[in-house]
Amino acid sequence: MENKCKRAYITTPIYYVNDVPHIGHAYTTIICDTLARYSRLIGLETYFLTGTDEHGQKIEEAAKKRGKSAQSYADEISGKFRALWDEFEISYDDFIRTTDERHKKGVQKAFEVMYNKGDIYKDMYEGHYCVSCESFFTQNQLIDNEYCPDCGKPTNIVKEESYFFRLSKYEDKLLEWYESKENCVLPKGKKNEVISFVKQGLKDLSVTRTSFDWGIKLPKSINDPKHVMYVWLDALLNYITALGYGDDEKLMKFWPATVQVVGKDILRFHAIYWPAFLMSLDLPLPKHIAAHGWWTRNGEKMSKSKGNVVNPKEVADAYGLENFRYFMLREVPFGQDGDFSQKALMDRINSDLSNDLGNLLNRVLGMSGKYFDMQIDSKDVEKFHKKELDEANAIFDSLQAFIFDMQLNRYLENLWRVLTIANQSIATYEPWAKMKEGKKDEAMALVALVANLLLKTAFYFHPVMPKTTQKIASVFGIKIDNDNYKKFIEDKTLLETTTLEKIPPLFPKIEKILMASPEPTTNKETPKEQIKESKDEGIITIDQFFQTKLKIGTILEAKEVEGSDRLLLLKVDLGEEKPRQIVAGIKSYYSPDSLIDTQVCIVANLKPAKIFGHKSEGMLLAAKDKKSLTLLRPETKVKSGTSVG
Ligand code: ME8
Ligand code: MG
Repeated sequence: MENKCKRAYITTPIYYVNDVPHIGHAYTTIICDTLARYSRLIGLETYFLTGTDEHGQKIEEAAKKRGKSAQSYADEISGKFRALWDEFEISYDDFIRTTDERHKKGVQKAFEVMYNKGDIYKDMYEGHYCVSCESFFTQNQLIDNEYCPDCGKPTNIVKEESYFFRLSKYEDKLLEWYESKENCVLPKGKKNEVISFVKQGLKDLSVTRTSFDWGIKLPKSINDPKHVMYVWLDALLNYITALGYGDDEKLMKFWPATVQVVGKDILRFHAIYWPAFLMSLDLPLPKHIAAHGWWTRNGEKMSKSKGNVVNPKEVADAYGLENFRYFMLREVPFGQDGDFSQKALMDRINSDLSNDLGNLLNRVLGMSGKYFDMQIDSKDVEKFHKKELDEANAIFDSLQAFIFDMQLNRYLENLWRVLTIANQSIATYEPWAKMKEGKKDEAMALVALVANLLLKTAFYFHPVMPKTTQKIASVFGIKIDNDNYKKFIEDKTLLETTTLEKIPPLFPKIEKILMASPEPTTNKETPKEQIKESKDEGIITIDQFFQTKLKIGTILEAKEVEGSDRLLLLKVDLGEEKPRQIVAGIKSYYSPDSLIDTQVCIVANLKPAKIFGHKSEGMLLAAKDKKSLTLLRPETKVKSGTSVG
């Protein structure tokens, strides 16, 4: 996020209405809500958009299955998203639905502009379509000639008349954009993936369909009523139709977006198609497209179709909405996946919130009550504690950069360093001893130092826990708002003489797991310290590594898979009751006979998959490049099932 301009426009993806909201959706929305609250607090004119994506074959099919019209089904689920965000007090300024008239109008206008410019033309489409991802693929992108490379579901062959968007025309311009704007796609590792995808060459994109109806019709001027628009063209345009594109454009002053947060599953659409559409419309490109990782359960992406979703409302009801917000933002480095566990959530509440923050507040209240009749006076803070104050201010001043880089976890981690300074100075200066020695001024300076650090922390923490931080500030008689932000944060003013107000404890300890489901996950014992270290893109912790179970297996049988020139079907002994069946793409390098009774290294805890109609219960490790492949084997023979690590 950039702070140069006075405005901020923040968007979530618009969620499909085939699915009720789960914590993955809540995560994206909470990140954006935090950014929006931060922008408002520091005084930017802020617009925060969320909404629902309601057209397309997937929604049409989901409605049909339930015997409902697409519109009434969309109304129902869109309402559920909106109700949840309202219940979560998400501070959105607009909730757009792609079935809104204003949206349809704007999309038709955009289509017309692209068409008149020659960026959209009519041709025949022949290829493969994944309804679940609403995405087109070429034959050689498919897995085993049939399955979607993104979600693994079977694709359909589509042959129909279609309008195409000249995506290929924008290849070089896109590459220029990635190159010239360093942070246009975040995190960096994800940006590199996007660049290599584009470098492989972009094909023109089919942007209309004739095989179903549930979509926006082409503009009247084109007069081709068979076609409806491809759902991704329709959906992406929401970010400008919500600002009145093609109609009353008052709100277009917020464009280009400051940050558009998406899950990594839909980064390709946002970092390639979307900027290309915008270039075609002669509109400026968003400042940042930021892709976060997935919330998983036992390592698998949470999604309704897998039946492994966690209901965000249940979590918020059980553990507290703001605690849940803090957990989501603090637990996972932006861009990485995180496994949801109640144990991890409890740990965050008990140690970070209750021990570090809550206790500090109690200590300030306790000390000022015991020694000073609840009074705080900051007059000697600079005199006795300049060092601590300077150190804390240096940390505070460094925080904004983390927000602009979308590293909310590091923002919070660093904010907590201030709490450590505060807690440590109590231990170091022992105000109780100072009181005994009659050094009342020094004791007061210490208590006031801690009080001031707490108040400032509350300002910085406000976008994450809006209500809780207002309660903390109320202890000092302060309201957190932009005026006071300027006073206490920008101008670094210290508290005037104040009488503190007692409040009930903010973070009662949680003694046991509060929800029956989901059960604690297998990685619940992952030491937190190690998770903390894994913030660099691509770096994993030793625990993450050991989630992969590697074992040595002995090949008992090997034969060719009929109809495939790549695959062999193996029976491998892993020291278990039954040998595993494994399908391996090694036929060009090994004859079946040469493999019998040799040992190989197997990934033993992969989810079984069906490959070419055969169940495969593991994966062989091999060193490979484009031309050669060689299996990894133990140097000397070991017992089947011996673990590797
Ligand atoms: O893709 N972990 O909608 P969608 C983290 N309509 N985030 C998750 C998640 C998980 N397990 N599951 C979903 C669409 N999300 C399109 C978008 S935008 C013009 C159109 C979040 O309902 C994440 O932000 O499938 C992901 O990108 C979004 O929900 C996808 O929601
Ligand atoms: Mg999805």
